[in-house]
Amino acid sequence: MKKSYAIVGCGRVGTALARYLAGAGYKPAGFASRSLSSAKRAATAAGAKVPVSVQPWEVTPKADIVLITTPDGVIRETADKIAEYEGFAKGAVVLHCSGALPSTQLSAAENGGAHTGSLHPLQSFASEDIEKNPFAGIMMAVEGQGDAVKTAWQMAENLGASPFEIQTDKKMLYHASAAVASNYLVTLMHLAFQLIIASGVPASKSYTILKPLVQGTLSNVENNGIPRALTGPIARGDAETVRHHIAEIGEAVPTCLDLYRQMGRHTIEIALAKGDLSEETAAELRQMLGGTSS
Ligand SMILES: NC(=O)c1ccc[n+]([C@@H]2O[C@H](COP(=O)([O-])OP(=O)(O)OC[C@H]3O[C@@H](n4cnc5c(N)ncnc54)[C@H](OP(=O)(O)O)[C@@H]3O)[C@@H](O)[C@H]2O)c1
Repeated sequence: MKKSYAIVGCGRVGTALARYLAGAGYKPAGFASRSLSSAKRAATAAGAKVPVSVQPWEVTPKADIVLITTPDGVIRETADKIAEYEGFAKGAVVLHCSGALPSTQLSAAENGGAHTGSLHPLQSFASEDIEKNPFAGIMMAVEGQGDAVKTAWQMAENLGASPFEIQTDKKMLYHASAAVASNYLVTLMHLAFQLIIASGVPASKSYTILKPLVQGTLSNVENNGIPRALTGPIARGDAETVRHHIAEIGEAVPTCLDLYRQMGRHTIEIALAKGDLSEETAAELRQMLGGTSS
């Protein structure tokens, strides 16, 4: 039989977990949030008539699994408070869903005899609208104590996700990677949009025009890996084209130049690893892109 669960912090992630854990056969035990209306919304999402409260320790004691899905800044104090009221059952699994913070934020629960861990969905939850299972097909990072990892792993699979284990003391680096892959991709697309718009393409068409190129590149990374996926002027040592890029960007959209140069300097190193770029041209490119020539 599947375990029972309580959720503390019924926002975007908490409400999604409320619904899809119930859908996967886990038994709702109770929901708590800062406001009663959010706790009630999660109970409705789970389709359960169970206790709801603004005092988490009133809904957690009977739960096999307690998920603390408050904002990161209050995870530790929330766990501390529940432990102070002896709100964790002995042997319960207590998890939070932060990508950046380690499970050691839950040390108060551990001291009270619970097993602690974290379960981070690599997904962007933009609202509490969860008509479609947001866990289906995604990756979920798991870390913590043995029993907690086992339970979190099983939960991820039951939600339709693929779990993988990360190191507790390296979570911040793991999270930085996720931020680069997701957030900086947006920044990169913004740069590309600014340049294509400056070239005369209507803003409304910029995404449609660049999308197949971006998707093709992503598929090259998947199929060929880095550095083989790299193409373009730096990879083939075409310093003249890069020189013209710099001149025209500097004239038309100078605010884009710094990022173009920085990305270019990093691209030189990938091109060298690929093997098509000579050390001599690399030095010329480095100088052009603002680095040293050595
Ligand atoms: N959003 C994402 O894309 C995403 C993705 C992966 C992981 N996460 C992680 O998931 C966790 C939750 O994020 P979220 O985006 O779901 O946040 P959120 O939508 O802001 O929801 C957090 C909920 O916690 C409640 N809350 C705030 N302070 C509380 C307290 N002291 N005690 C009890 N409840 C409290 C809020 O309550 P009321 O509504 O009752 O005021 C709110 O509903 C975070 O650790 C975050 O890093 C988020």
